[in-house]
Amino acid sequence: MKAGHPTTVWNRTASKAGQLVAEGARLAPTVGDALAAGPLTIICVTDYRAVYELLDASDAELDGRTPINLTSGDSAQAREAARWTEQRGARYLDGAVMAVPPAIGTAEAVILHSGPQTDFEAHRPTLEALGTVTHLGADHGLASLYDVAGLAMMWSVLNAWLQGTALLRTAGVDAVTYAPFARQIAAGVAEWLPGYAQQIDSGSFPAEASALETDVRAMEHLIEESEAVGVNAELPKLIEEFGRPGGD
Ligand SMILES: NC(=O)c1ccc[n+]([C@@H]2O[C@H](COP(=O)([O-])OP(=O)(O)OC[C@H]3O[C@@H](n4cnc5c(N)ncnc54)[C@H](OP(=O)(O)O)[C@@H]3O)[C@@H](O)[C@H]2O)c1
Repeated sequence: MKAGHPTTVWNRTASKAGQLVAEGARLAPTVGDALAAGPLTIICVTDYRAVYELLDASDAELDGRTPINLTSGDSAQAREAARWTEQRGARYLDGAVMAVPPAIGTAEAVILHSGPQTDFEAHRPTLEALGTVTHLGADHGLASLYDVAGLAMMWSVLNAWLQGTALLRTAGVDAVTYAPFARQIAAGVAEWLPGYAQQIDSGSFPAEASALETDVRAMEHLIEESEAVGVNAELPKLIEEFGRPGGD
């Protein structure tokens, strides 16, 4: 709306749309009315079950519409939703929001899209009003897969950070003091990714600077240290297990 797009809104609990309506949005009385309001419809509800409940509404006409579903789900759900809506004449794009609500409408909001590129390009200028948008490919499942890959990275880094803060706290070092060092390590590790990507894609994993056994011994050291000072050692134990011969 701030970017000047005439906007129609619908929410199951209509009162929650009150603020947007006060700011100039048109309130659709039904889902069908919302879909009919324009060629592009952005759907963002709790889960895919809710998406089907909405789109199955008796007056919802999908033919000729482009629903863009930003609801979180897995890749199979995205592909199935594409099949389901396309059977009803829609041009479906899936998507994933990697941002908190206050960031929406700013460049900080990373919004991933997947599905036919022509459909994405047709609506790109509108979608760009919501954040930094990326089209990942024609496979509708890609946005969900990138979303969870990003979460795997985020949660792994954050848990590793907590492991370090807990270890250092046992010697009276606070997290603020440790943070610049942790940041430097994380940035350094990030630099390795393109090189490792080539190894993964080529299926060739030469022992370069150090052999895996050396890293496993380092991980054992981390486990011993954690246990000695009473810090949870489950995360380093899991990583050490991956590094042992036969570990996955
Ligand atoms: N919030 C975040 O930071 C964030 C970040 C990234 C991605 N996401 C994703 O964005 C999606 C929405 O999240 P949210 O934070 O907006 O959740 P939320 O505040 O809990 O809102 C859920 C929305 O879904 C609607 N809904 C649920 N079941 C429905 C049904 N059966 N029929 C019709 N409407 C239904 C709710 O309507 P009522 O108002 O009537 O209950 C409400 O509008 C989720 O998939 C979430 O994973 C959220």
